[in-house]
Amino acid sequence: MNVFGYGSLIWRPDFPFAGRYWARLDGWERRFWQGSPDHRGTPEAPGRVVTLVPGEAVWGVVFELPADTAETTMARLDVREQGGYELVERQVHAEHGPVVARTFVATPDNPEWLGPDTVTAMAAHIARSHGPSGANREYLLRLADALEQAGVLDAHTRGLAAAVRRLP
Ligand code: BEZ
Repeated sequence: MNVFGYGSLIWRPDFPFAGRYWARLDGWERRFWQGSPDHRGTPEAPGRVVTLVPGEAVWGVVFELPADTAETTMARLDVREQGGYELVERQVHAEHGPVVARTFVATPDNPEWLGPDTVTAMAAHIARSHGPSGANREYLLRLADALEQAGVLDAHTRGLAAAVRRLP
């Protein structure tokens, strides 16, 4: 079984995996449009985390789950990523060819959905948000750094990271 990570899983995979490689999911783009009441914010002041919206393509990481821990890992991820996300199966494109992987998507009809805002407003929101998993700012900057190190161009994430870094 494979999991496609496009958010915190890229830089914090807290589960056993047998292989890991970058892959492209066509037809979707990464956006900080989902509210996080449980990880990078609180129910009173949700943070902003990523989801996928229809678009051109998004790069992420495929994790190959060992057969003996795959079900446990998926069950744990389902809990870790609850809060509006649904588990879906998608075909992604890796260097060695197409691969089917599971991933999590939060759509606009979920109760935590925040949707788009200006870069300035989203950056300020992220800069002030904190939750049980830590600062929202850390989530954004670690993701932006991981994408940059891999040579992945993501204007949305990069623009938000630059705006947050400019804030005091
Ligand atoms: C991730 O790929 O890191 C991820 C993003 C949103 C929800 C669940 C997982």
